Amino acid sequence: MKKWIISAAALALSAPFSLALADEGMWQPHQLPDIKEQLVAAGLKLNPDDMSDLSKFPMNAIISLGGCTASFISDQGLVVTNHHCAYGSIQHNSSEKNNLLANGFVAKTKQEELAAAPGSRVYITESLTDVTAEVTGGISAKLTGNDYYQAIENNRKALVADCEIDDDYRCSVSSFHSGASYVLIKLLTIRDVRLAYAPPSSIGKFGGDTDNWQWPRQTGDWAFYRAYVGKDGKPADYNTDNVPYSNKAFLKVNAAGVDEGDYVMVLGYPGSTNRYRTAVEVENNFTWAYPKAKLYREEYIDVIKQNSEPGSDQRIKYASNIASLANYAKNYGSMVESYNKGDMLVRKQQLESDLVNWLATDADMNAQYGGTLVTLNKLIEQSDETKERDLLLSYMGRTTMMSVAEGLLRLSHEQAKPDAQREPGYQERDLKRYEQSITSVNSRYVADIDKALIKHFLAKYVYLPMEQRVATFDKFFNITGKDLSKANAKIDQMYANTELGELDTRLAMMKMSEKEMRASSDPFVQYAVSQFDYNMAEEKRSKSLSGQLQQVRPEYMSAVIAFKKSREEAVYADANSTLRITFGNVKGYSPRDGLIAKPFTTTEGMLAKYIPDDDEFDLPLKLREAIKEKRYGSYANAKLNSVPVNYLSTLDITGGNSGSPTLNAKGEFVGLVFDGVYESIIGDWDYDPKYKRAIHVSSPFMLWVMDEVDGAENLIKEMEIVR
Ligand code: ARG
Repeated sequence: MKKWIISAAALALSAPFSLALADEGMWQPHQLPDIKEQLVAAGLKLNPDDMSDLSKFPMNAIISLGGCTASFISDQGLVVTNHHCAYGSIQHNSSEKNNLLANGFVAKTKQEELAAAPGSRVYITESLTDVTAEVTGGISAKLTGNDYYQAIENNRKALVADCEIDDDYRCSVSSFHSGASYVLIKLLTIRDVRLAYAPPSSIGKFGGDTDNWQWPRQTGDWAFYRAYVGKDGKPADYNTDNVPYSNKAFLKVNAAGVDEGDYVMVLGYPGSTNRYRTAVEVENNFTWAYPKAKLYREEYIDVIKQNSEPGSDQRIKYASNIASLANYAKNYGSMVESYNKGDMLVRKQQLESDLVNWLATDADMNAQYGGTLVTLNKLIEQSDETKERDLLLSYMGRTTMMSVAEGLLRLSHEQAKPDAQREPGYQERDLKRYEQSITSVNSRYVADIDKALIKHFLAKYVYLPMEQRVATFDKFFNITGKDLSKANAKIDQMYANTELGELDTRLAMMKMSEKEMRASSDPFVQYAVSQFDYNMAEEKRSKSLSGQLQQVRPEYMSAVIAFKKSREEAVYADANSTLRITFGNVKGYSPRDGLIAKPFTTTEGMLAKYIPDDDEFDLPLKLREAIKEKRYGSYANAKLNSVPVNYLSTLDITGGNSGSPTLNAKGEFVGLVFDGVYESIIGDWDYDPKYKRAIHVSSPFMLWVMDEVDGAENLIKEMEIVR
């Protein structure tokens, strides 16, 4: 395993570029020395070589929460991230009587800090190693489909097993450029994470879903965790004897924040982008998948709301679920709108025909890659054959009882195998996590809501084309044609009789053999048993397709990369939840003809949006008074004559970057990235410098609220503040 001695396709991306890079690109740490000139020209004052070293500042202050990014902000394990990233933990500690979502939470001392939601983790990336040869080398050229998929999977599992020397580490193998290269990632994993501070939602989620993905914006989207370890300094399970983690590096907070035009960068873990997809995939997603998924998400939310009162324990249990459903419903809606207004499909088609023509000019290239696009598209179309059903079942599968039962039965099946042969997710290394997820069910499940959701989607299921219906499913629920009367009665019975709502039952089932599970009289376990063979067959079918794609996509990517290089275009890998850097400037934009969006919003602008007792636009009295009296102290910005609340930048970010610290040219903390503007969302597929703007919450606003409104002086004292 050599560090960055790289496969052919990956070689193309580490080559330096002569062109100006603009702001596009989510760069891997090892690429930074290659784009050194651009970074310095953009204004970076740190040494780009140092920045590619994970053991050095600032990289060693950047952490992942799994799905969100965060950073160390003091030398005592204090972690800053977005309010919406800590939302599940705030919810977990909330009830109708003690609603931290509504009221906020400040631990005045470390003793008052609250355990985060079960399963919460702080991950610190310790090493990244190119393992392309280990993953793809040595696989017989004859293997295809499911066999190829399994061969890759086995190589990945072996690398992970070797890397995870003990419980303190979590390793994974990530694929870059759809399998053109693979990287082994080693993460130090802290498992005692506590909530230290969260503003009330009227600040942390100000503007709610109305303002989400929008500018102008005034949201205080931040919260603090603290990482704890055992007395020996090593990761440990939650224990009151644990001590704050003493991290090697942390970010200093710049109290003045940023000015228009300033250099800024975001270091974080962007989740996924689709910038190299084919036109066929683009068309399918934008004309079918996104509109459908938006609709299903909105319906899902409606069903939850119809079955729970605002502010009730029931509604609180679904707060996180609703927020994430709403977040992506709006995201998809924006993308569809942009797609319909724009010409992305035509440009993709043009790019592909240019690519094919370019390949044709070189006999060798053409022999190798000439037919790749056609092969790829055939595979994609194949996976579309049952798309209506697959999407619908996936939304039904989000409900709790069905998924818990199916998971537990599968666990019993996998546990009979030697560990190395088990399906990922069910290996020894996964069991603690599994137990935590099964434990946390109680804080996010209400039987009546779960039931209503299943009935809702079942009513859609019966309208699927007959050839997409699942025979075992129809049989289990007694569905004939479109008649659901028996099915609905059966579902009522199932919820009345299941014991899976009890934690003890679920925990006991984690230890059962497959035979015992199959003999269980629990109606949801019986449901899982009835679907087991179908699920396994479907999984095999999908793995077989994945295996074929894993062979073709890297080929296609190699052709695309060579082509882009020939046109001197920037090539970086699509986001894949691994550590990346994006850099650019603080800058406004024009959302549409005749409008200019300024790069800053102010506390006065926040107050102007205030609507008393509103779900989304209420504001705490203390904050309103402080704004009215302009009690800004040292946090005021002279040019704005106010405290800057949020700002815009040209950074290339996506979901997963949430909670990422924003650093200035010297590597000081100047805020958190938490969103993108409405017009930028399609950028996940189609980068456009005109519209790509990230939204950040400013460091002066964070400090001001903590100081003047929320009384979190203890945390201000703990941080190192550059004034
Ligand atoms: N749009 C933000 C993101 O995905 C999440 C904001 C969460 N807030 C909400 N109102 N749902 O990065």
